[in-house]
Amino acid sequence: MDSSTNASSIFPDTGDFLSWKKRKLDGYRSGHAGFPVNIADPYRIREEEYIHMADQVRKRNVVLYRLDPEYSESPQAVMALCRQLGLVSTIGNPESGQDHVSCIYDRTADCDNPSRYIPYTSKPLNWHTDGYYYPENHKVRSFVMHCARQAKSGGGNSLVDHEMLFICMQEHAPDLLDSLCLPDVMTIPENVDQNQVVREAFHGPVYSRDDNGSLYMRFTQRKRHVIWKQSPGVTKAIAFLNAMLSRPLPWKITVRLSSGEGVLCNNILHCRQGYLDSCPKTSRRLLYRIRFNERLG
Ligand SMILES: [Fe+2]
Repeated sequence: MDSSTNASSIFPDTGDFLSWKKRKLDGYRSGHAGFPVNIADPYRIREEEYIHMADQVRKRNVVLYRLDPEYSESPQAVMALCRQLGLVSTIGNPESGQDHVSCIYDRTADCDNPSRYIPYTSKPLNWHTDGYYYPENHKVRSFVMHCARQAKSGGGNSLVDHEMLFICMQEHAPDLLDSLCLPDVMTIPENVDQNQVVREAFHGPVYSRDDNGSLYMRFTQRKRHVIWKQSPGVTKAIAFLNAMLSRPLPWKITVRLSSGEGVLCNNILHCRQGYLDSCPKTSRRLLYRIRFNERLG
C-alpha cells in the first residue's frame, strides 16, 4: 500500500476511505460555495432554497446564506432557519443568553458587561474549530454565524473544510496523521473564573470520527490554554496544519459578511480578521452565533 491510499487509524478500511475521499473531491469539482443562497422567508424556506443549501453542505460542510433585509437583525429568524435544517439541540456557554444565542460584539469598552474572551473584542481570532474544549456529550457539530451589522472595516472570516485538510495531510504527510488522532494529543486545562471552575480539564484528539462515520476536528492555534502532547510526531503534525492554513488553498473561503448574511457549517475551521467599528455604539459590528449538537445534512 503506498502513501496515496494509506489513511489513518480512524479509517481502518482503505476501501471505505478511498470512496469517501473520492466523493469529497468530486463534490469540490462541481460548483463553488462563494455565493450566498438567498432566503426570502427564514420562517418558511422554499424547497429550492433548502435543496441548494443541503447540496452545498453535503459537498463542502458549509453554506453561505443571505436573508431578506426584513430579517437581518432577528436572532429568532436565524434560529427558525436552523431548525428547518434539522439543528435543534443548541449548546450554550457562559456568554450566551438563555436562548443560547451569543451576541458577538466588541465589549472591551462596556464597563457593565466586559468579557475576558477574545471573540468579544475587535482583535483577530486565529484558526480554530468551535468548542474544541467541549466533552463528547456536548460536541459542537455545527454552528451558524450571522451578521446583523458589519464593522466599519475588517472583520472578515476565512473558512477551511477540515475534511479537505485531512485529505491534504493524508496525501502529503500520511505518517503524521495518526499523531492527530491520539486521544490525548490536546489538553485544555480547567477554566477557573473568580475561584469557580467554569469548565473541567479536557483531553482529546484533533481528528476523530463520530458514530455515523463523519469526521470531527478539534483544533486551535491559540498558544495559551492548550497543551499539545510532547512528541516529535505531534509537533510536526501541528506545524504542518499551521503551514497549510497559512497558504492560499483553493478551497479556502474568505468572506466579509454583510448585514443579513451568514455562515452555516459543520464546525469547520475558521478565523477572523481584526476590525474597526463605527462610532455610535448602536451601529457597531454585531454577529449572532448559535452552536448545535447536530450536524447539518
Ligand atoms: Fe469560532
